Amino acid sequence: MTARRDFPPLHEADLEADPFAQFAAWYALAAAEVPMADAMTLATVGADGGPDARMVLLKGHGPDGFRFFTNYGSVKAGQIDAYPRGALILYWRELERQVRARGPIERLPAADSDAYFATRARESRIGAWASPQSRPLADRADLDRRVAEVRERFEGVGEVPRPEFWGGFVLRPETIEFWQGQQARLHDRFRYSREDGSAWRIQRLGP
Ligand SMILES: Cc1cc2nc3c(=O)[nH]c(=O)nc-3n(C[C@H](O)[C@H](O)[C@H](O)COP(=O)(O)O)c2cc1C
Repeated sequence: MTARRDFPPLHEADLEADPFAQFAAWYALAAAEVPMADAMTLATVGADGGPDARMVLLKGHGPDGFRFFTNYGSVKAGQIDAYPRGALILYWRELERQVRARGPIERLPAADSDAYFATRARESRIGAWASPQSRPLADRADLDRRVAEVRERFEGVGEVPRPEFWGGFVLRPETIEFWQGQQARLHDRFRYSREDGSAWRIQRLGP
């Protein structure tokens, strides 16, 4: 096992006043140093009132929030439609960093989903059409048959269009927390929070 790396402490004076600028700086380093820096846990509220969670990929971040894409017929999308709030976590082990965000979630405009879908490889677009995400399949052959049907349907079609049942969401954070691991579990934690578009407030939290 390699020795544990020591990471510089995080001081409030080093933080950006805007958490999205802070996130952009951390994400740029993570994207350069950490495999799958874009993998994040998305937590939503289930129909039974209990939490649910799964991994999704971060596909954009900025002042409006954190964006991800999925099947609008999936369990997660149904949960978001019913209770449009959630939480995200990114963990970058190689940097001993964690980012957490909570807030309302909205669907992205169709044009944004179209723009992202257009960047996907043809096979991924076919997969989006073919997979009845979160619904039962008889067996693997059932999935393979659906894929074959979609391939046939779009044979000779240059650009596979985005299915209406597939698109993006944005989580608009009300709180964002930056966590930097330190020795002896005395980690540095800073939470940004704001109410109704007011200025962001930064607080250090106990680890
Ligand atoms: C690393 C990783 C990244 C994933 N990214 C996505 C994604 O961006 N969108 C998506 O719909 N599912 C993604 N998945 C699959 C989801 O975790 C999940 O299985 C699927 O979306 C169905 O979730 P649901 O039934 O809660 O809706 C990813 C899984 C892993 C392990």
